[in-house]
Order: sequence, then C-alpha cells, then structure tokens
Amino acid sequence: MKSDEQVAYIHTIGCQMNIYDSQRLGAILESCGYKTVFGDNGMDPEQADLVLCNTCSIRHKAEEKAFSFLGRFNAVKQKNPHLITIMAGCVAQQEGENAFSRLPHLNLVLGTQAFARFGQHVQSLQSGKRRICDTQSCEQIFETMADSKKHTESAGQNVSEFVTIMQGCNNFCTYCVVPYVRGREKSRSVTAIVKEVERLVARGVSEITLLGQNVNSYGGDQAGTKFPELLARINEVAGIKRIRFATSHPKDISDELIAAMGKLDKVCKHLHLPVQSGSDRILRKMNRGYTRDLYLSRVRALREICPEIALSTDMIVGFPSETREDFEQTMDLVSQVEYHSLFAFAYSKRSSAPASKFPNQVEESEKRLRLNQLLQFQETISLKKNQETVGQVVDVLIEGKSARGHDGFASRFPGCVQMKGRTQANQVVHFPMSSPEVGELVQIKIEDAYSHSLWGLPITFS
Ligand code: SAH
Ligand code: SF4
Ligand code: F3S
Repeated sequence: MKSDEQVAYIHTIGCQMNIYDSQRLGAILESCGYKTVFGDNGMDPEQADLVLCNTCSIRHKAEEKAFSFLGRFNAVKQKNPHLITIMAGCVAQQEGENAFSRLPHLNLVLGTQAFARFGQHVQSLQSGKRRICDTQSCEQIFETMADSKKHTESAGQNVSEFVTIMQGCNNFCTYCVVPYVRGREKSRSVTAIVKEVERLVARGVSEITLLGQNVNSYGGDQAGTKFPELLARINEVAGIKRIRFATSHPKDISDELIAAMGKLDKVCKHLHLPVQSGSDRILRKMNRGYTRDLYLSRVRALREICPEIALSTDMIVGFPSETREDFEQTMDLVSQVEYHSLFAFAYSKRSSAPASKFPNQVEESEKRLRLNQLLQFQETISLKKNQETVGQVVDVLIEGKSARGHDGFASRFPGCVQMKGRTQANQVVHFPMSSPEVGELVQIKIEDAYSHSLWGLPITFS
C-alpha cells in the first residue's frame, strides 16, 4: 500500500443487502480516490483515513453493535482529527441527527434513502465540511451508482455474489423496522439486473443470489415482468451455474413461481420461506397475512411439483403475548415441515414498529428458554435431513479449501486437498480433490452426515 494513498475502511453489520450496499458505497469511495478495505481482511481500522460502518437495526443487539464499533473512534479522533467517520444504512436512516448525540465525532450520517448522494457528500467532507446528515429519500438508488472494483474487477475470486433486485418493503409486519428504514418497495429494471448478472458471470462468478425483502412481489410497482419471468430470463444467461434468491413471503408465493422452480435447471431447489410463528393468533398479531394452514398448503404444493426441494425458515419466539401454547404450535409446525435449516430469533422490541406497544411483552428469560428449545429441536431435524443424503450423489459447487481437515485426511488421500462446497439445498460438504477447480460443479457421493455439514467423495474416486 502506498503511504500517500488514502484508505477507507468499511465495516458491515446486517443482512445480505447490506453486504451488497457496502460494495456499492465502496465503489463511490474508490471513485473519490480512496483505496477500500473491507472489514474482513484484518486491517486495524484505527489506521484508516476514513471509516464507514454500514449498520442494521433489525434487532437491538445489531444496533448496539453499530454504536459500539463507531464509539471507539471518539478517542482515535483526539489523536487523528483528520479521520473521517461515517454511519451509513438502517440505523443512520432511523436515527438521523440523533446519531450525533451518541457519537459526536461522526462526520456523516447517511440513511439508506440517501445513498445516491454519497459521492457528493464525500467530496464535501474532503473539502473540509465536518457534519452532514442525509436521510432524505430520492427516486433512483441503484442505477446511479458505479460498480465497485471489488464487485467488477476481482469478482472472479468469489464463487457466489449477491444482486439486489428490489429494495424496501410494503408489508409492515408489526415487529419489523424494515419498511421504516428501507422505505417502500421499488424494483430495479429487468435490463439492469440481467446486465449486472451477465457482467458478474463474465468475470467468473458461478452463483448469483437475487435479493429483496419480498422477491415474490418483484415488479409490483411497475407494469412489467414478474419474478418467475425474471428467474426464467436469468436462467438463460450463458455460463451461470446456479441461481438462488431470498426472501420469499409465504403470502405472495405464486403457483407460477412454484412451477418455475420445478422447471428452471439453474434455480437451486431450495426455498427460504420465513414463517415466523406456527400460531394463527400470533401470525395475525404479526400482520403476516397468512394462516398456518395456508403456509402448510403452500409447502405441500411445492413438494408436489418439486419433491426434492429443501426448505429453510426464520422464526421469532417470544412475540408479545405469545403463550406456551402458541410456542407449542410453532414447535409442531417445525416438526411437520422438517426444515433443512432454521434461523430463530428472540423477539426484540423496536420502538418504530407497532408491536413495541403491544401488551403482555414476554420476559427475556422465557424468550431464551423457548429459543434454546427450538434451536435444539432443529439440530435433530437438520441432522436427520443431512443423514437422508448419505449414499446419494449430489451436485456440489466448489467454494474453496476447507478450514479443517477430516480425520486422517493426509494419509487417506495423499496428493489431495480438502475442499468445501454447497449442495443445491445449501448444505456444506467437505471432500477431497486432487485438482480442485473453484467455481466448478462436481458430483459428490455423500458418505457421512453431521448436523451442520456433510462429508463425501467425488464419484470419480470410486
Ligand atoms: N423480509 C424478510 C425478513 C427480513 S428480516 C421476511 O419477511 O421474511 C430477517 C428476519 O429477522 C425476519 O425474518 C425475522 O425473523 C427477524 N426479525 C425481524 N424483526 C425482528 C424483531 N423485531 N425481533 C426479532 N427478530 C426479528
Ligand atoms: Fe419486515 Fe415483514 Fe417486510 Fe420482511 S416482510 S422485511 S419481516 S416488514
Ligand atoms: Fe437488513 Fe438490518 Fe437493514 S436486516 S434491511 S440491514 S435493518
């Protein structure tokens, strides 16, 4: 690194969309003359010239992480007054000017709605301006932004990349901050999405994950293409090996999408279908717009068309007024559906979301108990699902080297490297290979199953 080069350190908290946005914000910093360093590469952020934290407010803990990460730069700034500090993303959108009272050293508070004006704000900061707050909404967000070098030039190092197809949410689930911090649903144009996918694939990316809070309502704000057609369009991109997408809202999952999943060969047979609760009473209070029966009937329809489909979900335990009986309904639904994997969260009170004012908030200790019970139950189901694959030959997309070797690896497989990859169902598989090619699909015969991974051998070994 040249000593006169200005370095921008980018730290990302939150969902896949934030990871994507951070790459875009990084691209703008690069066009303003910074070398960008993303938080995972081990550099000490206190040595940077600019620090940007892209924040998440989905739960209290995520929000606190943002304040604590940025808080340490109060002291750093005493020593280095030229350091520029930026809070971007969902907490910035939510807090606006208030962020300055907890973090007086901040130079820029940049809400999700104001990303398109980031370049102009960076220039103001470079010319000496010291306090800017922008949470104003603007019409176009994605297309006005350049691609980051990370996203374009070196994307070939990544097997898998995200492409945001829409932003915002119109659903207003009563626990959730997203509609307030990300605004209303807006879909990108098919042309822009396909172009971006083509560019990534041309640079060696094998797998694309299309992102949106509710991808099934893609195109709803325009008269054009709907999500199943978009999938079909991307399925035709030459060279693409796998397509994933998240998240699907159970109330909007159409027969057309189910048919498309059965038919399109690049689309992974895996669906993330957050249910949040198994109790109709709680689902109503959450404003989810479906009943337990409707959810289960969608699951049946999916499995009829596409029997091998793997399902995963999100669950919230301890939503206000959730009783032990409601929670048992959740456990029962989990046992009926048998998800491959499940993300469970203790309900976190968010003051901008209506459920924070609902009566009968559940004790933290009770939430923890339910959370642990649910997670332990899921462990047994995940293990069972993984065991079902033993003896099968599955397609695995090679992602890279495994961090740890299998027992006796070196003596059993001389000249081989232990690699890891994923099945269509998103299960992690470890396997030996003599000439591994990252980004390629390989057929692996599964030999052993654990609750979080599989072990197998390439079919060419037998
Ligand atoms: N758009 C997606 C989810 C976005 S947020 C969907 O509708 O499914 C990711 C997950 O965080 C949610 O599915 C939910 O399980 C969880 N979540 C959201 N708000 C929460 C809150 N206040 N407390 C606990 N978990 C929450
Ligand atoms: Fe939040 Fe509900 Fe929108 Fe998902 S669908 S982002 S949970 S409001
Ligand atoms: Fe994502 Fe968190 Fe914002 S989950 S949309 S970064 S509130």
